[in-house]
Amino acid sequence: MTITRFGIDIGGSSIKGSRVNLETGELVGEWSAIETPNPATPDTVASAVAELVQQQKWDGPVGITLPMVIRNKVARSAANVDPTWIGTNVSELFQRHLGEREISVLNDADAAGLAETTFGDSAATKGPVIFLTFGTGIGSAFLIDGHLFPNTELGHVRVGEKKAEHQAASSVKDREELSFPDWAKRVSNVLSEYDDLFSPSLFIVGGGISADHEQWIPLLTIDTPVIPAKLRNHAGIVGAAMAVSTHLTP
Ligand code: BGC
Repeated sequence: MTITRFGIDIGGSSIKGSRVNLETGELVGEWSAIETPNPATPDTVASAVAELVQQQKWDGPVGITLPMVIRNKVARSAANVDPTWIGTNVSELFQRHLGEREISVLNDADAAGLAETTFGDSAATKGPVIFLTFGTGIGSAFLIDGHLFPNTELGHVRVGEKKAEHQAASSVKDREELSFPDWAKRVSNVLSEYDDLFSPSLFIVGGGISADHEQWIPLLTIDTPVIPAKLRNHAGIVGAAMAVSTHLTP
């Protein structure tokens, strides 16, 4: 029998959700997206999530991703989101809004990395791999033989004068209207710092800009191999659905 779970990916501009077939990693039926409320406080976001789940007429387990550190079910950071998230017990929050059902909550990049280990390139499950998402910020997932070490937050590592995500997120490329070659230089700097610190055997790069990987991955100047993620926009949704099926909440 096909196992289906519901995954929700909460981002700065939209909240996306869908049923996911956990044997194939494919979305089942129509996926939904709603605008992230403004201000995006815990309660406004959790009500929007409940609305999305109701729209989809889903009453089973729900996995949720958030762009923040989640430790012992409590949000510990809020880099690109409303600061009132810090200290919120996110399990209790979503349980309150979604009622009696199984819920899991984890970091967005961790979810996307997890999805890649099962439905992406098989290289994601071999040895120490650093998975990164380039978007509003830089998200990271540390994978060791396909197992996740959560909440690594590499976007906040200082490289030179600034945090990595403040110089090389894809939002910075857009904001500063950088060409791919100029942006690739910044990404090379950041990856080279990660390389020195962690010596992974492979980097996998995801996020929307990985769709254009041919324009920038060949320009990177580090020796460690870099490959694009196979799962694109829906990686977070798939990883969230996987997390609730394995009862994973860091
Ligand atoms: C946050 C991470 C998140 C990443 C991508 C960073 O600013 O600190 O938790 O994974 O953005 O959304």
